[in-house]
Amino acid sequence: MLKTSVFFAFLALSAVADDASFFKVLIREVDNPAGTLQNGQPCGDFGYLGLGCNVYLQAAVSATGQNVSSSNTLTSTNPINTQMENRISNLNLVVLDANAGNAHSFNGFDLHILISSDQAANSIIDDYVIHVDTTQSTGVYSYTHQRDSTLSTTISIAWSTNISPPSTTSTPEPTTTEVPFTGSTLPPTTTPKPPMDCSEISNLTSSGVQTIYPNGSPVQVYCDTTSYGTYTVIQSRGATGENVNFNITYDKYTDIIGTPGKETNFWFGLDNMNHLSGAKPYRLQIDLCCGTLLVAKQIYHSFKVGTAEYGYNLTATADISGIGLAYSSTYTDLGAKFSTFDNFTGPLGKDDCDEFQYFDDSGVQSQPYGGWWYGSCGNNLNGFWYPKRNGNCTVPDEVFKNTTMLGINMRTTSGQGYGGYNVDMVSYDRVRMALFTFDSITINRTDSSFCS
Ligand SMILES: *[C@@H]1O[C@H](CO)[C@@H](O)[C@H](O)[C@H]1NC(C)=O
Ligand SMILES: *[C@@H]1O[C@H](CO)[C@@H](O)[C@H](O)[C@H]1NC(C)=O
Ligand SMILES: *[C@@H]1O[C@H](CO)[C@@H](O)[C@H](O)[C@H]1NC(C)=O
Ligand SMILES: *[C@@H]1O[C@H](CO)[C@@H](O)[C@H](O)[C@H]1NC(C)=O
Ligand SMILES: *[C@@H]1O[C@H](CO)[C@@H](O)[C@H](O)[C@H]1NC(C)=O
Ligand SMILES: *[C@@H]1O[C@H](CO)[C@@H](O)[C@H](O)[C@H]1NC(C)=O
Ligand SMILES: *[C@@H]1O[C@H](CO)[C@@H](O)[C@H](O)[C@H]1NC(C)=O
Ligand SMILES: *[C@@H]1O[C@H](CO)[C@@H](O)[C@H](O)[C@H]1NC(C)=O
Repeated sequence: MLKTSVFFAFLALSAVADDASFFKVLIREVDNPAGTLQNGQPCGDFGYLGLGCNVYLQAAVSATGQNVSSSNTLTSTNPINTQMENRISNLNLVVLDANAGNAHSFNGFDLHILISSDQAANSIIDDYVIHVDTTQSTGVYSYTHQRDSTLSTTISIAWSTNISPPSTTSTPEPTTTEVPFTGSTLPPTTTPKPPMDCSEISNLTSSGVQTIYPNGSPVQVYCDTTSYGTYTVIQSRGATGENVNFNITYDKYTDIIGTPGKETNFWFGLDNMNHLSGAKPYRLQIDLCCGTLLVAKQIYHSFKVGTAEYGYNLTATADISGIGLAYSSTYTDLGAKFSTFDNFTGPLGKDDCDEFQYFDDSGVQSQPYGGWWYGSCGNNLNGFWYPKRNGNCTVPDEVFKNTTMLGINMRTTSGQGYGGYNVDMVSYDRVRMALFTFDSITINRTDSSFCS
């Protein structure tokens, strides 16, 4: 009896001594930690505000390819949002994979996140597993998980491991023998892969118009280089450059409109958006300016535009729900098809959409203009371009009654807007949509360089 347990103790010790492999994840930040429980019930006294509970975040990681929810114990935090913060930016929870020693090679990992209002996790707010594909021993990543409600959970993580990557089964180096000089001194012709987006242009040192190949064919776009990464600008509106008519038919929106530039009117085309976003994961940043003032910077994850067959449907998850593309669970551009005046395919029907509907209480019929994924009906970055008035981007009633067109709009507030409709009666005079692949946590949220 005694002998056996000594034997087991020895085994366990030797396993620990041999096992120098580690895999760990640092959960740096979590957004929207509070919220409604998965069963729809509020989790605290202030539940009617979507807030109000001390939540626990628990996490487990697996780098061995085993099912993380069954094989790894969750590491828990103390209650994390005691001040009802919308974002915990210094969470810094470190989670270890106890089974890292069983990993033959490092080929990515699974991360299980469980947010609940009690430590025993009976009252669950969010619960999901993500897989991160990587062979790099260290890295950073951010991920947004859409909950059943309108809220989403965004986490920012970093990982580190000493498990070696899979050995590449590369063909052995050919044995080189001295080649007799044939008279040619030309270097071997190499065909480098053409850049698909601005981040793949290796010698880019400053912002400007560049050629990319989203689908093999050259396309000119504006590349914005910042200290934290390079953006590929897929849409912009502004006062300079060609005066571009955005009131065009559905088939025109499938292709490029206007000219790329910092403050020009440009549309990358739905087909290009479909090809590019289908090739790798992109994040989307929307910048809204009134004059040189940055009014809002909105960030979305997993931006994708579907194929023509599905009406170029839009998917993404919002950094912050309740505004912008993710205006509400009923009025959302996420999931909507693209629409124009000659092809309205919105989920709500043309009569429900403010852009296309008579404003009956003000006695003004609005005219359709532009094209958008009209799911919330209040957003349209391809709307009519209004100049600002005395540095003010609000469209006054008398101007709207004269033009009867909604401007360049993206909801920055939640709830009802102008006259009870889902619109802010504003028109930004400079906006852009820009794709990026770097970690969104590095973005300077007050960087207004696009507006100046
Ligand atoms: C992982 O385990 C959970 C719970 O143990 C189970 O519900 C899930 O189906 C498993 N997933 C896979 C891919 O085996
Ligand atoms: C990058 O290098 C290529 C090939 O030398 C050149 O054609 C291109 O103009 C360069 N781009 C920039 C931004 O310098
Ligand atoms: C946009 O074009 C359509 C079709 O030509 C037209 O009916 C509509 O009035 C135009 N909208 C504006 C604001 O000019
Ligand atoms: C578009 O809709 C189809 C059909 O519902 C779906 O399979 C596809 O994933 C969607 N694509 C995008 C990019 O949302
Ligand atoms: C309207 O959009 C649908 C996709 O939602 C497409 O199949 C159809 O061809 C479009 N019609 C026109 C006239 O562009
Ligand atoms: C802009 O104009 C609107 C009405 O046209 C007014 O209500 C608002 O206060 C103005 N904003 C600023 C910052 O001047
Ligand atoms: C309304 O439109 C007319 C004609 O385009 C223009 O002369 C007038 O200044 C406009 N009024 C307002 C308030 O914008
Ligand atoms: C972020 O951008 C603002 C505005 O451009 C600038 O003042 C500030 O120094 C930047 N912050 C960092 C950390 O770079």
